Amino acid sequence: MKNITNICCIGAGYVGGPTMSVIAQKNPHIKVTCVDLNEARINAWNDDNLDNLPIYEPGLAEVVKEARGRNLFFSTEVDEAIDKADMIFISVNTPTKTYGEGKGKAADLKYIELCARQIARVAKDDKIIVEKSTLPVKTAEALKSILHNTGNGVSYQILSNPEFLAEGTAIQDLQNADRVLIGGDDTEEGREAMQQLVNIYASWLPQERILTTNVWSSELSKLVANAFLAQRVSSINAISELCEVTGADVSEVSRSIGMDSRIGSKFLKASVGFGGSCFQKDILNLVYIASSLGLQEVADYWEQVILMNDYQKHRFARKIVKTLYNTVADKKIAFLGWAFKKDTNDTRESAAIYVAEKLLQEQANISIYDPKVKKEQIITDLENLGTLDPEAIHKRITVVSNPYEAMKEAHAVAILTEWDEFAAYDWQKVYDNMMKPAFIFDGRGILDLKNLTKIGFQLFSLGKSNTAVK
Ligand code: NAD
Ligand code: UDX
Repeated sequence: MKNITNICCIGAGYVGGPTMSVIAQKNPHIKVTCVDLNEARINAWNDDNLDNLPIYEPGLAEVVKEARGRNLFFSTEVDEAIDKADMIFISVNTPTKTYGEGKGKAADLKYIELCARQIARVAKDDKIIVEKSTLPVKTAEALKSILHNTGNGVSYQILSNPEFLAEGTAIQDLQNADRVLIGGDDTEEGREAMQQLVNIYASWLPQERILTTNVWSSELSKLVANAFLAQRVSSINAISELCEVTGADVSEVSRSIGMDSRIGSKFLKASVGFGGSCFQKDILNLVYIASSLGLQEVADYWEQVILMNDYQKHRFARKIVKTLYNTVADKKIAFLGWAFKKDTNDTRESAAIYVAEKLLQEQANISIYDPKVKKEQIITDLENLGTLDPEAIHKRITVVSNPYEAMKEAHAVAILTEWDEFAAYDWQKVYDNMMKPAFIFDGRGILDLKNLTKIGFQLFSLGKSNTAVK
């Protein structure tokens, strides 16, 4: 068995970049090249100033600093990297299809197929191909067919190795993964290929956390893991509304049920709705697969997780409008947070986008502060919805770099992301500078309710019944 000395990863995004950085850090004897068609992204990965890396993740800059130029490289030379690699990770985007059959549900696999065809064209010796992207179950079959039928007669082993990192904690999740999942063929060559990948992870993770399965279990497990996690958020969000009308407190309910070891305490934080590039896309994909296989009850069951999430985002926006005397037209509303969760600059599917959409439709003026998200991104997110007049977006959206400026003379403050710094603000100062009554809508349950009420705020916090705003 030839040892792996050269790895290529196609796709230098939120998964490819951090994952390859950690693999290179922990395997200094392996040359790791992360390639991407996006030149600006690669330039940012190569920027001398580590503050300019294309994604923000705590701890990432330190890992890149250690490995970059030693055995970690970022490049746009995709063919060259494929040619030299023994093992090729495919970590390209697999968004929800926006056209044709399965539109709005199925995963768009065009980028995956392009990679397979490029590998088939370029490869001159045997390769291990690793599916790192999240893919519908059975995608390995399609990859195999393309590689074997269009290739140069070289032999391929296809492994599934889905990534479980969460953004904001990517480096910690990679360095101390609960488990790594590797799926491969149950043949001598398949088992050998799996062992090669096991060896790479075993250079920093204990063997018992590295799980090997058949390819289909591995592919499906990724979709199922995300569906289960998102289902917990939708479940607690459903309970949050019940708490508001019954006198219960959702954080007390979460704590009480979470102490049952069969339930567990994680992923029970009520919120304005889950976001991120994965949960919605992967559940929609699961729903599509089940429904195409004629399993309509299975599809309907999982679709409910998405419907509940949409409801929670709209409910929060409606609460703001209703509380502000049924009109937000021309009123200044301050948004604290735009990213889909704290400690990331990623805004994909962020609940903030949908709450803003609703308020803009009601002609509110929104002033936004997020510690890591840039104005251009916010404008693009709103324009991409395709439901708002671009002129109105530019007229009504202000993005500021000082949170106190965002909240000055605002009628209401809405907390959309749980950034730690928000709880530590001088809320008395905020109150003094706001319009009265001064409303706060805490969509993340991070503020000190008692203290803010004492200051004089009219407060609504998801899942709490003891708030001034009902
Ligand atoms: P991303 O959009 O940040 O990165 C994908 C990159 O692939 C882009 O930079 C794009 O330019 C590049 N690319 C696309 N086609 C290419 C090609 N033919 N050649 C070279 N480069 C190409 O996406 P991401 O968030 O890193 O997600 C990648 C995959 O990982 C998806 O399947 C996603 O579902 C999965 N995943 C994501 C996360 C997450 O937290 N973001 C976690 C686990 C799994
Ligand atoms: C998720 C999965 O956790 C990860 O394993 C997978 O690889 C990619 O998708 P990510 O989307 O980066 O990761 O972040 P995650 O921490 O899962 O949060 C997703 C969304 O759920 C965020 O908007 C977050 O704010 C929300 N959430 C999470 C809640 O509202 N409440 C919770 O208790 C947990």
